Amino acid sequence: MSETITFADQQADRIVAAMSNEEKVDLLSGFGMWKTAGIPAYGIKPIVMTDGTYGVRYSIPQIDSDERGGMDLDAFLSVVNQRASDVAIAWGEMKPATCFPNGSAMGNSWDEALMRRLGTLLGKECRAMGVHLLLGPGINLRRTPLAGRSYEYYSEDPLLTGKLAAAVIEGVQSQGVGTSLKHFACNNSEVERTTMDSVVEERALREIYLKGFEIAIKQSRPWTIMSSYNRLNGVQASQDPWLLDQVLRKDWDFEGVVVSDWHGIKDRPVSLVAGGDLDMPESPRRKADLLAALNSGSVPAEVADLSCRRLLDLIERCNKGAEAPVPLYTPKEHHAEARSMAAASMVLVRNEGSLPILPEMREILVVGRDAGTPVIQGSGCATTIPTMVDQPLDELQQALGPDHSLTFRPEADAETLMLAAKADLVLVFTSTEGAYDGEGSDRTTLALGPGQDEMIASLAAVSDKVAVVIACPDAVEMPWIDAVNAVLVTFYSGQAMGGAVADVLTGKVNPSGKLSVTFPKRLADVPGFLHYPGENGRHVYGEGIHVGYRAYDLREIEPLFPFGHGLSYTRFAYSDLKLSNSEIGLDDEITVSFTIANTGERAGAEVAQLYLQAPGKRLKRSPQELKGFSKTLLQPGERRRVEIAIKGSDLAIWDPALGRWVLESVNARLVIAASSRDPRLVTDLTLKPSVLPFRRLAYDTQPAYVLPNEIACEHICAYLVARCNISSEDAMRMLDHCSNSFFGIFTSLERRLRLSIPEAEVAGLIADINAAMDTAEARL
Ligand code: BGC
Repeated sequence: MSETITFADQQADRIVAAMSNEEKVDLLSGFGMWKTAGIPAYGIKPIVMTDGTYGVRYSIPQIDSDERGGMDLDAFLSVVNQRASDVAIAWGEMKPATCFPNGSAMGNSWDEALMRRLGTLLGKECRAMGVHLLLGPGINLRRTPLAGRSYEYYSEDPLLTGKLAAAVIEGVQSQGVGTSLKHFACNNSEVERTTMDSVVEERALREIYLKGFEIAIKQSRPWTIMSSYNRLNGVQASQDPWLLDQVLRKDWDFEGVVVSDWHGIKDRPVSLVAGGDLDMPESPRRKADLLAALNSGSVPAEVADLSCRRLLDLIERCNKGAEAPVPLYTPKEHHAEARSMAAASMVLVRNEGSLPILPEMREILVVGRDAGTPVIQGSGCATTIPTMVDQPLDELQQALGPDHSLTFRPEADAETLMLAAKADLVLVFTSTEGAYDGEGSDRTTLALGPGQDEMIASLAAVSDKVAVVIACPDAVEMPWIDAVNAVLVTFYSGQAMGGAVADVLTGKVNPSGKLSVTFPKRLADVPGFLHYPGENGRHVYGEGIHVGYRAYDLREIEPLFPFGHGLSYTRFAYSDLKLSNSEIGLDDEITVSFTIANTGERAGAEVAQLYLQAPGKRLKRSPQELKGFSKTLLQPGERRRVEIAIKGSDLAIWDPALGRWVLESVNARLVIAASSRDPRLVTDLTLKPSVLPFRRLAYDTQPAYVLPNEIACEHICAYLVARCNISSEDAMRMLDHCSNSFFGIFTSLERRLRLSIPEAEVAGLIADINAAMDTAEARL
């Protein structure tokens, strides 16, 4: 747990005790759009917060010129509704900041050290601008590639998401700047974003949608969490005591501040009682509601006092952070770092030999507007005004030098096709249609922008040397895939995308990104497809725990590219898998180790993935689940031992009936893989049970579920022995005699054996059996 910095406890107590209800409401309600209220009488200074996840978005008029920062909705909507293509319009209104690769690009790095570096650089830029709290990272799971904000988020897998987020948070907070891990929880689509009810089973919540938050919170202790706009199982997330108090604070020990998403609270008193400390941005109506509730006593004073204490702690941390000297850096330095981050995150998904560009590929035809005006980021509150932008075409020409001739054609007309037929390499730059999707609006298709699929197909019809570069927020369909030679997916790679793409295409950087989501062959294969986007305001997450690759594996659907897939210009060999112990229980930890060797001719980094394949018993499991990963840089010929530690608790599943994490007794396998569909090494692992393989007994439990349960049989037999004055062998025979009945065990006994068992005795038996099961499980 990180060190807690507080106003000296007694001082904070004194301040809260002295505050009027009006002052408490001020402290808990934000001041204007991007600040908290300063209350000079108590030495409370305001703090400044701003977006975003991959670049600091500092609105000069909203933070500097008007003290309150714009109270009107129009000013706020101008932020969230901003389209990336309008960046030029906002020039001068926003402080330029490095536009780093977006979340869905960085997710493919699988590199915690790189994410920590990203956080550190974001933290430095916050400090330079006087920002105390960065409103990110956002980590909602990418349940559907259509989701408008998926460009901000890391993955379809909770472990990868949680680990990468933790590293970013550690980096930002190492600079004395706070983070706001968002959006808690289940805001996985932009359709009806402030009203939609995400209907999700508890098991899927705990194992999938909340898991990334749990991992990040426990590892990196973000100073704040941002609640989400949507409803969750019927309750507004910003007002949900189960989510904000039971799970977040009681189950996970979160000690920071819960901040609302902007205007995400509908009933302020209810949200405060649920655990929503800070209401952002300032809203006179919600403030008046809270004041009335405090004055009338309908919201207890202790509730407000506790939230005020949390706010004071946060403000103290922020002020402390701001005391350190402002870090020095130049935009150029951060641009260079953004370039290496982008290069480390791009994914080469196909390569039949066209890449990297070789000296003999002299005549290169570059097609597509994106080569000149690349799409570097998505749209919404995270949209950043970049400090500079690389052009892929310029960067390529510069990297290749005068020995290569580059011809640029914005589109594939007849003349372009003639040039393509003769070129040594045809590089096509493409992107999805960026005009409508982003924050507030999901994509409607997985196709590339209008005409681009046709453009690629027509070039591939005249050349077998077509390499396609795709900028996209999330997965896209590639109907032409078999006809092209190579495909590099850059996602939205930030302001240095042009330089990074040149680095990867020319082989200066060996690609090492691997997909952090599955690319489906078609939209209809997406696991949530049947229920998306919901109806009548309800979106049922019908696929449950089987999200992303888990569902493709279970339904045996061949994806376009599987989760974890990514090619390199070198080759890697895996060998010698060892476990420190071949059994693991809930409280144990083991180390998995194996060797990776670079057997090719170039230096390169390999992302190795560790999957658990555990058959479900009483509770169904997905065929495999990511349980660890590592990225290793190797020189040609070099080999290294890789170690991944796993805890038994990381392998557990949530049993909704018992309300806790459990391990069932099964013979499982650990697989070391180059992708979710490319296993390289396998070993057996025995999971030691923390539960019995039977459900607790109820009045109507069928004999088939009772007879295998020794504890239940013993108790019922003992009862029958006493009740009917028979031997235990006869009692067991009576029980066996019920085995083919599909009625409850007690009904079956009564009808078959013409017995009448008083209700109270049945209830007593059930209670005794279930208590004995609890005792037996505690001993496991
Ligand atoms: C977004 C948040 C963002 C906030 C402030 C909201 O609309 O959902 O992610 O931090 O606006 O811009």
